[in-house]
Amino acid sequence: AIQTTFLMVKPDGVKRQLIGDIVDRFERKGFVLKGAKLMQISQELAEKHYAEHAEKPFFGELTDFITSGPVFAMVWEGENVISVARLMMGATNPSESAPGTIRGDYSTTVSHNVIHGSDSLASAEREIGLFFNENELH
Ligand code: CMP
Repeated sequence: AIQTTFLMVKPDGVKRQLIGDIVDRFERKGFVLKGAKLMQISQELAEKHYAEHAEKPFFGELTDFITSGPVFAMVWEGENVISVARLMMGATNPSESAPGTIRGDYSTTVSHNVIHGSDSLASAEREIGLFFNENELH
């Protein structure tokens, strides 16, 4: 089915100038970019976005990191894009992500793993709503 998902280049990926490479991978795959922006995440948005991790011991580290510099937020559309994008990103822990995937190619630590992607239909809908207004999607 045609789906939309929320993907975000994290501050480490932006600093390392990986935005172009990452956008290129999804465009070449055949997915369609519906919206994108470079933005600074507020503490409030970070806590909402990562609400499911609020009780985790690394929650403070997670929100500090995601607010440490600009991120590149994106909405992508395509056939099964939610799960396929996650395959292209690779496993959350870069020690387990395959070469050829984004995390497999560009990261070594789970806390600085370059990209975030929605993990389900429900989280895609929720995250797109948190980051984008209707008039920013094309
Ligand atoms: P993400 O897909 O953005 O969703 C939650 C994030 O938590 C995950 O990617 C990781 O970057 C991060 N994360 C998971 N486990 C740890 C950990 N043990 N320490 C720090 N960050 C973590």
